Amino acid sequence: MRDDSGESPQVEPELLAAAIAVQHNAYVPYSQFPVGAAIRTASGAVFVGCNVENAAYPQGVCAEASAISAMVSAGERTIATIVTVCDGEMLSTCCGGCRQKVREFATSSTLIHAAGPDGVRATYTMAELLPDGFGPENLDHPAPG
Ligand code: THU
Repeated sequence: MRDDSGESPQVEPELLAAAIAVQHNAYVPYSQFPVGAAIRTASGAVFVGCNVENAAYPQGVCAEASAISAMVSAGERTIATIVTVCDGEMLSTCCGGCRQKVREFATSSTLIHAAGPDGVRATYTMAELLPDGFGPENLDHPAPG
């Protein structure tokens, strides 16, 4: 983990603002815990997503998954940077399932910023958040571009 005391790569203000904006659209009647996520792709495009919960609880979708779905639906495949925004005093990072979902579209240089209401609290590389993770390269065939 790298805290954001000045050593880490800084988040782009535009990307953080996009994550904060979409956090307001979160549908969270059950947890009351809104999350926003914004992805900058390798091409420079931005895709956002929020968590969308469901009365059938396991059917809820995390903000990162929503943003990844938007990215892939637009024909993009590579996450350069992702920033998530959560409320609360504690540092909140991507859940385990979302670490794996991000991993699918990450490179060795993908950065993951975890923000709170006060801004970015920690920044990680993919390898820091999911060490020795399983990815498309582990299969016999590479993921289609
Ligand atoms: N949540 C996310 O959207 N992303 C995460 O990485 C952590 C958790 C959501 C899921 C659920 O809607 C709420 O936060 C509480 O767990």
